Amino acid sequence: MLWSKTLETGIQSIDDQHKELFKQVDILIDSKNVNRHKEVLDYLEKYIAKHFSDEQKMHIESKYPKAAEHKKYHDEYVKVFKQLKEKYVKEGPTPSNNMEINKSVVGWLKDHIMVCDRDFATYYKALK
Ligand SMILES: [Fe+2]
Repeated sequence: MLWSKTLETGIQSIDDQHKELFKQVDILIDSKNVNRHKEVLDYLEKYIAKHFSDEQKMHIESKYPKAAEHKKYHDEYVKVFKQLKEKYVKEGPTPSNNMEINKSVVGWLKDHIMVCDRDFATYYKALK
């Protein structure tokens, strides 16, 4: 399991979506699912888009001052994921592609959650 409790933001809806993202990555890199990678990557791509849009909605509704900056990270990431997906679908789950997923999906998500999403969570929870 790639998810760990230290990644919790304390906002239930966001945490649930983050857990689902990590669950899907687990499925993707599991060698048992070698034939399902296209399906899982398609699902992940859609789920990431939905997750980002849900987060951004919360940012705007709560007048988060760093909403625009945060959206920029999301938009850049959508491009990175798309390229990664195309490469993975073309070449399959090679060790180098799995390593890339680990770095660019797991690594990016963890960093983004720890810094950006946590920053928003602190702001959001202080409003209550
Ligand atoms: Fe985010």
